[in-house]
Amino acid sequence: MTVLVTGVAGFIGFHVAAALLARGESVVGVDNVNEYYDVALKEARLAQLDGAKKFSFVRADICDRDAMDAAMAAAAPMRRIVHLAAQAGVRYSLDHPFAYTESNVTGHLSMLEACRHADGIEHMVYASSSSVYGGNTKLPFSVDDRTDRPLSLYAATKSAAEQMSRSYAHLYRLPLTGLRFFTVYGPWGRPDMALFIFTKAILEGRPIRVFNRGDMGRDFTYIDDIVKGTLAALDHPPADDGVEPPHRVFNLGNHHTEPLLRLVELIEKATGRKAERVLEPMQPGDVRETYADIEASARDLGFAPSVTLAEGVPQFVEWYRSHYGV
Ligand SMILES: NC(=O)c1ccc[n+]([C@@H]2O[C@H](COP(=O)([O-])OP(=O)(O)OC[C@H]3O[C@@H](n4cnc5c(N)ncnc54)[C@H](O)[C@@H]3O)[C@@H](O)[C@H]2O)c1
Repeated sequence: MTVLVTGVAGFIGFHVAAALLARGESVVGVDNVNEYYDVALKEARLAQLDGAKKFSFVRADICDRDAMDAAMAAAAPMRRIVHLAAQAGVRYSLDHPFAYTESNVTGHLSMLEACRHADGIEHMVYASSSSVYGGNTKLPFSVDDRTDRPLSLYAATKSAAEQMSRSYAHLYRLPLTGLRFFTVYGPWGRPDMALFIFTKAILEGRPIRVFNRGDMGRDFTYIDDIVKGTLAALDHPPADDGVEPPHRVFNLGNHHTEPLLRLVELIEKATGRKAERVLEPMQPGDVRETYADIEASARDLGFAPSVTLAEGVPQFVEWYRSHYGV
């Protein structure tokens, strides 16, 4: 049975599609291949998938309901969806707010509507974010904690998508699972994220900007662990007891917060070069620290992240060097 993967040209979508193909599933991938970051990287990811016999690609915007209906039809028989397409990034949301409401709110609604009107959707897993925890200071972040105090529009749209999903699960008994990803990194990673930006600058001999003067912590989660968690979630649709809506959210994090400066040190070690640090104030919309409580995902999905930052950073640097020939 085919799995529909949205955001398939993106960092996580590409890896999830590759893992589904590797376990013998057919995948129809959807992406509008937008220009938020280097399109060549998205095309290169798609080129990796293109060779697979059981993969097909539909270039479409998830907000385009006719195109989504066509993609769903092309994927038939299809009962499961991994919905990862979104406008990501906290800082970009300050200057491009409508990109977030379009892809993350209207686009998410379009996916929910597509599920509602399609025959026999068994499960849609969708991407949420650790940013929904906003300025919460109680660590680690638990799925039972408040998520109604976002610090950025990005976080607000991710929180809205969770609420919309819950309402659709209630109204139409659609089995839906939201995954709150915590700072995902690894080969084929995103050019707008710290690991990529720092590695590129260090290899080019340029200074790096370290926000909040380095006083930040992130629960960095390696892509292979995220993929395992996403597939496990896909394989465990929430049961419908007829009372509670069949909607669940899980944290997918490494359950280990690391100082930002530790990331810099690991890149220095992997590249063999010293970084020139420019210490800057906190950026608007940023969260100081993230840390995932993974009790529920461990218990219900068997989620057990195993790659440490010290193991994962050299994997990224090695990929970066070979992909960009540096
Ligand atoms: N990478 C992380 O650390 C992280 C953390 C938390 C949440 N997330 C979420 O995980 C998901 C995947 O993130 P990623 O890191 O792979 O990001 P990404 O930007 O690499 O991938 C998203 C993909 O979706 C596509 N897309 C965006 N809007 C679209 C639209 N309207 N129609 C069709 N395609 C569209 C983009 O072209 C892109 O290829 C996103 O929902 C993101 O918000 C990621």
